[in-house]
Amino acid sequence: MAEQEERKPIYELRDVVKKRASDSYSFSLRVPSLRIFPGEKIALIGESGCGKSTLLDMLAFVLQPTSCEEFVFAAGDEPEDISAAWRRSRRNRLARLRRHHLGYVMQTGGLLPYLTVRENMNLSRRILGMKKDDTVDELAEELGLSRHLGKLPSELSTGERQRVAIGRALAHRPSIVIADEPTASVDPFAAEKIMALFIEMVEQRNITVIVASHAWRHIKQLGLRRLAHHTRRSKDGHAAETVVSG
Ligand SMILES: Nc1ncnc2c1ncn2[C@@H]1O[C@H](COP(=O)(O)OP(=O)(O)OP(=O)(O)O)[C@@H](O)[C@H]1O
Ligand SMILES: [Mg+2]
Repeated sequence: MAEQEERKPIYELRDVVKKRASDSYSFSLRVPSLRIFPGEKIALIGESGCGKSTLLDMLAFVLQPTSCEEFVFAAGDEPEDISAAWRRSRRNRLARLRRHHLGYVMQTGGLLPYLTVRENMNLSRRILGMKKDDTVDELAEELGLSRHLGKLPSELSTGERQRVAIGRALAHRPSIVIADEPTASVDPFAAEKIMALFIEMVEQRNITVIVASHAWRHIKQLGLRRLAHHTRRSKDGHAAETVVSG
């Protein structure tokens, strides 16, 4: 899009590689070129083992690339050279960027079992020292969780837990939300509803979103841009190399 070309990408990656190996196999994820612009909605679709979580974890600065030509992140005032931060082991810097700019929704929710729904949703705000306001109540209302705010995660259904995880990822108003199969553990009907609500909520807030999923079918109609990827398999059918670009 012409409009996008004039804006600065929020992520700019060139020749980023992550290699993973054990005695019995090796896998590598290669990203020759990837640019993600503010406000974009990105889908990373592929079967199990093709490297979706590997890419998301690199985009969340959790996983260090094996090699990297360029990795720039520009959500704040100044562009950040992520490649250099890893090279210099500036883990605190990376953690700080993650806390301030990113929200992460995990497949299994990743909620803290001993905190209530309200406390879980408020966690990222508390860590950042943000002042108390109505954010959590408003999110709970939108997510249909108002009457569950005092409960522990173990007292919720799987779908409700997924919605809490979405609320938690949005509560500190991040510029980017990364969601790793956020609806994989609920039935297809609930998954479709939760995904539609999630996308609507990030759209309203103008948040850039990157979603990984096995299932393209139910997110196709939500207007996401799908990243191209190609997986080469070894003779035993194991994913050996995936190339992602977009
Ligand atoms: N910590 C690790 N150490 C070594 N290899 C790993 C590690 N985590 C994942 N892998 C391997 O890297 C490859 C990609 O894994 P990844 O978790 O990124 O796939 P995925 O697309 O997210 O799969 P799924 O849809 O099942 O979540 C797989 O072959 C996997 O076995
Ligand atoms: Mg995964």
